[in-house]
Amino acid sequence: MDGSAARERLALAVDMPLAQGLALYSSVAPFMGYAKVGLSLFVEHGPAAVTAFQKLGGRVFLDLKLHDIPNTVELAAARAGALGVALLTVHAAGGEAMVKAAVKGAREGAQRQGHPPPRVLAVTVLTSLSAADVTDIGFSSAPEAAAQRLAQLAVRAGADGLVCSPREAEGLRRLLGPSPFLCTPGIRPAGAERGDQARAETPAFAVRAGADLLVVGRPVHTAPDPVAAARALALEVSSG
Ligand code: C5P
Repeated sequence: MDGSAARERLALAVDMPLAQGLALYSSVAPFMGYAKVGLSLFVEHGPAAVTAFQKLGGRVFLDLKLHDIPNTVELAAARAGALGVALLTVHAAGGEAMVKAAVKGAREGAQRQGHPPPRVLAVTVLTSLSAADVTDIGFSSAPEAAAQRLAQLAVRAGADGLVCSPREAEGLRRLLGPSPFLCTPGIRPAGAERGDQARAETPAFAVRAGADLLVVGRPVHTAPDPVAAARALALEVSSG
């Protein structure tokens, strides 16, 4: 795989103030094709946070994890599609009708503005939840089984892919086949600080497990030389 293909498989999680995030993204953009804009940036700046990264040439991964009644999610997804984002997240736990509505809204919103349709990715069980938390919410099965059931539901509803841990990726590939787009956070280059990611894996592991897009935040943010860190990630993805 060449460098430009690796770039299409790396997203920078921009979990920081906008000005700082724009400066960081513009320096690593030769190696990371996507900027992941999450709830905090979007709550503070709205669509301006999306267009700012697009102006730098980044494709935007809008990580809003939508979860509401289908009509409300369809309207929000249509607005996201109209912004020309490349990826949008929803919670699979919102149910089949809600995921379907998100896909419909995202496609229609993009089409109205002449953008390619965003990929709608479903989040299954948040990796921050323990087995006890999953039981407290009311799931009767273990987190892994609940995640697989929600993944099947999302794909049935037309989701383009899933957000999953690198450790789940291989099992999901086996279960769902080659087409769902798998996006994995929880990436730590060998020897890097894990922070609060208890189940982190290396970029090469994620690629071999079948991940299409790797989301990386702190290993780039906190690196003494973020550009060198991004270059090393791209190299590892190319050789993985
Ligand atoms: O800094 P780090 O590389 O851990 O950032 C990972 C990014 O992926 C963060 O934006 C985090 O919110 C997000 N994420 C995650 N685990 C999930 C879903 C999203 O770490 N299950």
